Amino acid sequence: MVDFDEHIARALIARHAAREGPLLPILHDLQAEFGWIPEEAVRLVAHVLNLSRAEVHGVVSFYHDFRDAPEPRPVLKLCRAESCQARGADALAVHAEAVAGDRIAIETVYCLGLCSVGPNALTGRDHLHARLDAGAIDALVAAL
Ligand code: FES
Repeated sequence: MVDFDEHIARALIARHAAREGPLLPILHDLQAEFGWIPEEAVRLVAHVLNLSRAEVHGVVSFYHDFRDAPEPRPVLKLCRAESCQARGADALAVHAEAVAGDRIAIETVYCLGLCSVGPNALTGRDHLHARLDAGAIDALVAAL
């Protein structure tokens, strides 16, 4: 999780504000940047897009990808898209859940852009892990 920064949030919102259907791309960028979507960000998005805060909240709470509170645990994001799935990502996810217990949040993402070297995972904002196997998951979980 990163502390909320209004200047960064405004820049992320401005990146998509003029496009058609800007709300989801904006929320994805805010989620990626801060690890959750703080109330201040909801207020900004609503203001810029001329929506009510309730409308923005509704979208945030509808999609599992978006958090309205920070995840207190370390997060391991496992890719479950096609290429990684073909390389055993589903079994790896079951293993990761078992090893992580309640101490680490295991989340699913769909493609990290490293398809040829999967199964892959992401920790932190941009720490990519490739060619994962059960042993590598054990080491990652231990390190988080
Ligand atoms: S399918 Fe997993 S990185 Fe692309």
